[in-house]
Amino acid sequence: MAGSREQFGSKLGFILAAAGSAVGIGNLVGFPVGAAKNGGGAFLIMYAIFVAFICLPVMIAEMTVGRASQKDPLGALTNLSGHNRGWRMAGWLSIITPFMIAVFYLVITVWIFGYLFESSIGNLDELAQPETFGNFITSSNLFIYMAGVVAIIYAILRGGVKEGIEKAAKILMPALFIMLIILVVFVLTRENAFAGVRYYLIPDISKIDAGVVNGALAQAFFSLSLGMGIMITYGSYIDTRANLPSSAKLVALTDTAVAFAAGLMILPAIFSFNPEVNPDELSESSISMIFSYLPQIFLELQNSIGYFGASAVASFFFLLVFFAAITSIVSIFEVPVAALMSEKGMERKKALLLCVSLLIVFSAFCALSFGFVEFFTNFVSYAGADRSFFDLVYDVFYDTILPLNGLLICLFVIYRWKKHNFNEELDRGAPEFKNSLFERYVNFSLGTFIPGILLLIFVNTVALKYFGVALIG
Ligand code: PFF
Repeated sequence: MAGSREQFGSKLGFILAAAGSAVGIGNLVGFPVGAAKNGGGAFLIMYAIFVAFICLPVMIAEMTVGRASQKDPLGALTNLSGHNRGWRMAGWLSIITPFMIAVFYLVITVWIFGYLFESSIGNLDELAQPETFGNFITSSNLFIYMAGVVAIIYAILRGGVKEGIEKAAKILMPALFIMLIILVVFVLTRENAFAGVRYYLIPDISKIDAGVVNGALAQAFFSLSLGMGIMITYGSYIDTRANLPSSAKLVALTDTAVAFAAGLMILPAIFSFNPEVNPDELSESSISMIFSYLPQIFLELQNSIGYFGASAVASFFFLLVFFAAITSIVSIFEVPVAALMSEKGMERKKALLLCVSLLIVFSAFCALSFGFVEFFTNFVSYAGADRSFFDLVYDVFYDTILPLNGLLICLFVIYRWKKHNFNEELDRGAPEFKNSLFERYVNFSLGTFIPGILLLIFVNTVALKYFGVALIG
């Protein structure tokens, strides 16, 4: 290994970096619309319970495994399992999964970067045209934007943990919080905004069925960046004095607060800027919301604050989403980079160059999946439908393997690494946690119902995605 292990410089730096990973596109757009359409306040309460009682223990488990091993996920599962072959394979899965998620997430980040650029040079009217998104994702300009985004990711990760990831998080996250607050205040002070708040928050229990429960849990799990090896890797960059349970709680709270606040921006904006809206027709897909729907909503603003004002608000929004996306993609991309460094003894620069080159190739395949190249556009067929290369990567790694990775980490901590080792590591830096009710809850839940639920989600996803059979909801 090259030199001693890098570390975050402060507790705040670690929390901001982990929160930066957790706060992503899902928080800003997917969560608000999903919540509004699936029971409002009732969905919010259910989501908060899932975060606190199911996702938080998994986050604590991942951070603890990272800190105990001081390794990337592959090294961590290999070492702590006593070089068991099966667990080493699970370790590999924790390296390949984040890399492949980075592959498709980069494409979405590139689109956001493109929309940020276009809206800031005065092309909002064009972005609001129905055919623009389709043309945009098949234009070769995309590769110029991709070069820009990759350069930013490279520059941050090249700086390492303290000078790169932590520094970027310390700038981008406070900026993101401030921008979000400004946009929420701006939107809430518009006429008709409270119709959106009502639509967002009024509880409607009748909308909650098994499918919604499943969706809320999946959303909470993804939103906290679990099952991606990220919290293991970031956990390996903190020292034994850090209080892991309290850090994890803060990260979960920040992520949930941002998702909640985003709802106070998106829904009132839709209702206020465009009062004729039919809420039931809102798409739950974050992608179509960001790129097809919201530009039209922003353009409506020109009636009250002029075209320049509307463009400024749109640019501000895309900058906010871009910051959220960059801190997420940096965190996920650090996982394979860290693995190459510690498993193959590579220097950071070399590991980064190798990963970036592979990222560009695979992301280009994804970017070419939208009609550019027939081979990638109709790449495979399952459950009776043709799927593109982008769809395949999304279905396999984001939808299917994440819950499996979560399941494996629970089983690993409790049954392979063993409770007493886990608790001993956890209590370092958090003596008040020892033998507490919360510690007992974390132990019990990780060994019983959390893996049970994750197994159910995994089986359901496989049945639905690849065989077209809905087991739940
Ligand atoms: N927590 C992120 C989100 O809610 O968007 C999930 C994520 C996705 C993290 C992709 C990192 C990433 F590269």
